[in-house]
Amino acid sequence: MNKTLEQHRKDIVEIGRRVYRLGFVAAYDGNISVRLPDGNVLATPTAISKGYMSEEDLVVVDAEGNKLEDERKASSEIAMHLLIYQLRPDIHAVVHAHPPCATGYAAAGVPLTKALISEVVLSLGCIPLAKYGTPGTPELAEAIKPYIPHYDALLMANHGVVAYGADIYQAHGKMETVEHFARISLTTRILGKETLLSSEDVDKLLVARERYGIKTPLKITEACPRVSDAGSEPTITLTKSQLVDIIQSALAELQIKRH
Ligand code: 13P
Repeated sequence: MNKTLEQHRKDIVEIGRRVYRLGFVAAYDGNISVRLPDGNVLATPTAISKGYMSEEDLVVVDAEGNKLEDERKASSEIAMHLLIYQLRPDIHAVVHAHPPCATGYAAAGVPLTKALISEVVLSLGCIPLAKYGTPGTPELAEAIKPYIPHYDALLMANHGVVAYGADIYQAHGKMETVEHFARISLTTRILGKETLLSSEDVDKLLVARERYGIKTPLKITEACPRVSDAGSEPTITLTKSQLVDIIQSALAELQIKRH
């Protein structure tokens, strides 16, 4: 059933409250949009708290970003949203936010590409890191452009996260998955141990993506390495005394060579 413009306005206000309550945005951070059936886009206005929007704050623009009705000026990031709609006919909603853990990864220059969690490989494949572009300029849209056809959520270096889906609830769900996965990844780093899925397990998950109707064709590149490659490195476990033995015999061998 096609939603009315009023229903889409309510949805954006609701998702704005959710991202705000989850702490994914502070102050005026983030922006949200929905592609309407006529090709126009309903978006959040610039400089507004996503936690306190009302339906009349939202703005309808055309596919080029020209304001068609409503009072306020559209988000300064509208070009990024329009580019995603242009490159992905399957996408009807975009959520951009700054969730602290995932944004920390983006600021550290660390992509979320490792095959650590089956559900994430299944749903998103991996979350690559697009290079930095000044917010609100074509530079940002250009930086994310190569990734849009192949992934449904991206880290934007020194900035935040953008996620998109067939509807606004799916787009928001992907944003939640990114932040949740970033927290899990950080936990493995704190524990000092990452046990990656094997190549075989990753391959099975990639096949299962089709069964779940996930059609985004994952592209395996330098920036987003084949997730299974990350699991192909064998891991070994040593006791402390075994490690000391190895170091001592290496040092002894070094001394023998010196004399
Ligand atoms: P807008 O208020 O213009 O949507 O910008 C917010 C933001 O998060 C920019 O990255």
